[in-house]
Amino acid sequence: MRNLIALGLLIALLTGSKVLAQQPRWWSPVVADSAMVVSAKSEATRVGVEVLRRGGNAVDAAIAVHFALAVALPSAGNLGGGGFLVVRTSDGVVHTYDYRETAPLAASEDMYLDEFGEVRPDRPSWFGALAVATPGSVAGMKLVHERHATLPWADLIEPAIELAERGFPVDPYSRRLIAGKIDDIRRFPGAAAMLLPTGQLPAVGDTLRQPALARTLRLIAARGPDVFYRGEIADSIVGAMERRGGLITHEDLRRYRAVERPPITFDYRGYTVHSMGPPSSGGITLKLILEQLETVELGEYPYHGARAVHRIVEAMRRAFAERNALLGDPDFVDIPQSILTESYAHDLAASIDTLRATSSIDIRPELSASSARVTAESTETTHFSIVDPMGNAVASTTTINGSFGSLETAAGFFLNNEMDDLTVKPGVPNAYGLVQGRSNAIQPGKRPLSAMTPTIVVQNEDPRFVVGSPGGSTIITTVAQILIGAIDYDMTLAEALDGGRFHHQHLPDTIRAEPWTLSEDTVYQLESMGHRVETRRGYSGRAQGIELGVETGLLYGRSDLRGGGEAAGF
Ligand code: GLY
Repeated sequence: MRNLIALGLLIALLTGSKVLAQQPRWWSPVVADSAMVVSAKSEATRVGVEVLRRGGNAVDAAIAVHFALAVALPSAGNLGGGGFLVVRTSDGVVHTYDYRETAPLAASEDMYLDEFGEVRPDRPSWFGALAVATPGSVAGMKLVHERHATLPWADLIEPAIELAERGFPVDPYSRRLIAGKIDDIRRFPGAAAMLLPTGQLPAVGDTLRQPALARTLRLIAARGPDVFYRGEIADSIVGAMERRGGLITHEDLRRYRAVERPPITFDYRGYTVHSMGPPSSGGITLKLILEQLETVELGEYPYHGARAVHRIVEAMRRAFAERNALLGDPDFVDIPQSILTESYAHDLAASIDTLRATSSIDIRPELSASSARVTAESTETTHFSIVDPMGNAVASTTTINGSFGSLETAAGFFLNNEMDDLTVKPGVPNAYGLVQGRSNAIQPGKRPLSAMTPTIVVQNEDPRFVVGSPGGSTIITTVAQILIGAIDYDMTLAEALDGGRFHHQHLPDTIRAEPWTLSEDTVYQLESMGHRVETRRGYSGRAQGIELGVETGLLYGRSDLRGGGEAAGF
């Protein structure tokens, strides 16, 4: 494969074009020598590249991409949600920012239970105003702008305003997202007005314009987060809550703060991994998975063979059990500091039977109260990765949780359904089938535990991989498998990103594999070891990654072939 890439480069050099401007739909990653943006929508990627061409740095580009995704990917990009951003500046310092949503002050632990203490069957944490947590994205963008940006705030929002006014063509992926939720969209007048302007499912190639969103973006460009958290936009959000039975008040919005958090940093086979800490579980769970695997020479086990899958799944099982039992918003929960030590993961690994699957109910049995299952709820988070010519790198993942969030809208944008990421009832699975504990119980002002895993990997003081993914609970196992491919199996990041994926999250006690990932023989061997294997149609994650070539000094961008994104650079 590396030879093929070298051949591609040679052809590019001979034809005088150093850069492939747009991601081709075949094996090759996009190659550039100076800067790269990879996101889930080509419109957003191009906005980011343009900011970098104008001399902006990776954080300038990240802010512009974030706002562009709020327009071009309304299922996940957002003003009405939250996210995390990891930046490694060219001097080698890593900062991680948290603009996760917060539970409204009027939220309570049993707010989604009926009079018998059971989860209400209409699942109000999934749809509607009661599912909405106080949004953090606008405050987050302003915080990273103050800390790192070089271009004016309004200039970075202008491309998103243009995109909302001019509109963008509906592509097959966006159409599929809308089609998948069309009955729900029709139940919410604001959502239907935005996504079904003619009343019908848009056709591929139709132009989707969002004039109300353009007006909102103009206000934010002119007046900053103040207009969102205290001004007209706050009035729209609170008005929507009052009309539709939600809890967010002006006080919730006034109190919202984006914050910097300590990164989760650990070594994996000579690489230094920087990822997001609580209230995201991404960094710690990734660390627990990889550090357990460090106790074996994984790369000597055939890729996707039963021996490797067994070992990786057992590490995932144990890491998710610890995640689900112990992690939560660090402002509310004392997370045991021992979980950050290498010996914690090595102790978990010591309990792995090399020949037999461990039953999940034997690990953290307190989580096993229910029969966990994964629902059909979609996982519409989005990730983008950026490297600028100065050597700054950004990995950012942002979400409104489900596809189009709660489906409630205000001021032209979708509001999240992030309340479902809190523990609605201990032992009862959330939309991702995650069975979580009391550490993530609902409390006023608390940030829901996330799985988002924006990650930057460094080798010999140089950034090597910038990566992340959507996918709910599968975000963590997606990022882990990409790093395993690149580090243990010496794949290019693009190859690792394209590889089939499997997933285990403690409960349900099942390996979920993408089609064409595990051979029949491998499944047979895994089942003989006591694993339950379910091959599911559909994808696990849609990662966006950049590799920085050690020998070539070039950048290789890959937008996951599972979704309609684009890598581009110069
Ligand atoms: N809402 C998905 C996550 O934060 O993990």
